[in-house]
Amino acid sequence: LASVEVDVSSLQPGSSLIVKWRGKPVVVRNRTEKEMKDGEAVSLNDLKDPIARNANIASDAPATDANRTTPGKEAWMVMVQVCTHLGCIPLGQEGDFGGWFCPCHGSQYDTAGRIRKGPAPENMAIPVYQFISDTKIRIG
Ligand code: FES
Repeated sequence: LASVEVDVSSLQPGSSLIVKWRGKPVVVRNRTEKEMKDGEAVSLNDLKDPIARNANIASDAPATDANRTTPGKEAWMVMVQVCTHLGCIPLGQEGDFGGWFCPCHGSQYDTAGRIRKGPAPENMAIPVYQFISDTKIRIG
């Protein structure tokens, strides 16, 4: 399917779901206040990949926490949950940065899905998506 619609009405802060989009797992996470604050507190200088990798904004936009989400919906991470090293599926809410941990070779991502440690070269990708209502997201 070119696009999928996801009902997120049941996702409380701190919970996630995964949908398949174009054969890839896409995670939708309703982040906690702490996860958002942790993401916002990170300096761009500390990022291995300073580019947002967000298909909804300019391709050279910096990887701020805000640029990894969508305006007005900063709690929500919508992201292709595929490690940018060799394509394994990272585990959520694991690792030193409270985001994602890839069990294959130890890459660690923060609460905004940005690569912070390990061999992966890039932040995990944000696909084209939009909120079509308060409780529904269209991906693709
Ligand atoms: Fe994730 Fe290698 S595939 S660290």
